[in-house]
Amino acid sequence: MTYPLRKIVFPAAGMGTRFLPATKAIPKEMLTIVDKPLIQYGVEEALEAGLSEVMIVTGRGKHAIEDHFDISAELENNLRRAGKDAVYDRISRIARMANVAYIRQKQALGLGHAVLCAAPWVGNEPFGVSLADELILGETPAMQQLRAIHEATGASVIALAEVSPQDTHKYGIVKAHDDNGRLRLTSMIEKPAADYAPSNLAIIGRYIFTPGLFERLQRTRPGMNGEIQLTDAINELARDEEVYGVVIKGQRFDAGNPGGFLAANALLGLQHPEYGEQLKVSLRPLL
Ligand code: UTP
Repeated sequence: MTYPLRKIVFPAAGMGTRFLPATKAIPKEMLTIVDKPLIQYGVEEALEAGLSEVMIVTGRGKHAIEDHFDISAELENNLRRAGKDAVYDRISRIARMANVAYIRQKQALGLGHAVLCAAPWVGNEPFGVSLADELILGETPAMQQLRAIHEATGASVIALAEVSPQDTHKYGIVKAHDDNGRLRLTSMIEKPAADYAPSNLAIIGRYIFTPGLFERLQRTRPGMNGEIQLTDAINELARDEEVYGVVIKGQRFDAGNPGGFLAANALLGLQHPEYGEQLKVSLRPLL
């Protein structure tokens, strides 16, 4: 029996240490690009790609994420009474746009472990995984680009981007070859130095997996940094099943580090229909 793709997991239980002190009391996933938190961009992208069931893996100090996707009756009533219809529409839509479920990762034992926490909810279906701190903007949502290959093959698919040799140590880097016009992945290494990188193709935080990933995750022992690494389980999966890669078309910001986050805010701020012009005028004399 094959299942249609409808579920997506957002691991959001990490510590966000690269953003301290901002993330001491605020989840990294709630940091805003202009006026919207990162996780909302991710959920909207998934919905646009036709996934409708959302699981967010949370942990200590992550309540703000749950509040964000809840109905805030008091706020909505106030906006309505004040006649702020446009803001009311934007706000009320957030709580109603998706079915969102939550599960706790009791300890931040790694990205692989966070995905494994969602296994009982996913069951025996293919599922997406999205890291909200990778912001990807494009005409075709990144998840949709993965979905097209998953639907053609029934296989796991991983989003990739070309990176320069000096950046390979920041990413999982894949070994890939052409397989009838598709990019077949055979192995991957976590954060290699340029000399050890098998390619310049980096894994960038969007995935579709067959449920076979979970049994590999269950067997995965702590690896780099003592964490259960998703990359190790994908390597195991790629030994037994086809795993494809797709170089994503679109503009990508590694908003999980402050440099990429600031670049995303600067660019989206300058392009913003309401604040963009004002921002240009304010910045011009300073640059
Ligand atoms: P990151 O490594 O980018 O997030 O993990 P982090 O650990 O929060 O950030 P730094 O490195 O300390 O600055 C990628 C994604 O996986 C989640 C994070 O929340 C992030 O969305 N994650 C990571 C978990 O859910 N659990 C973990 O144990 C680790």
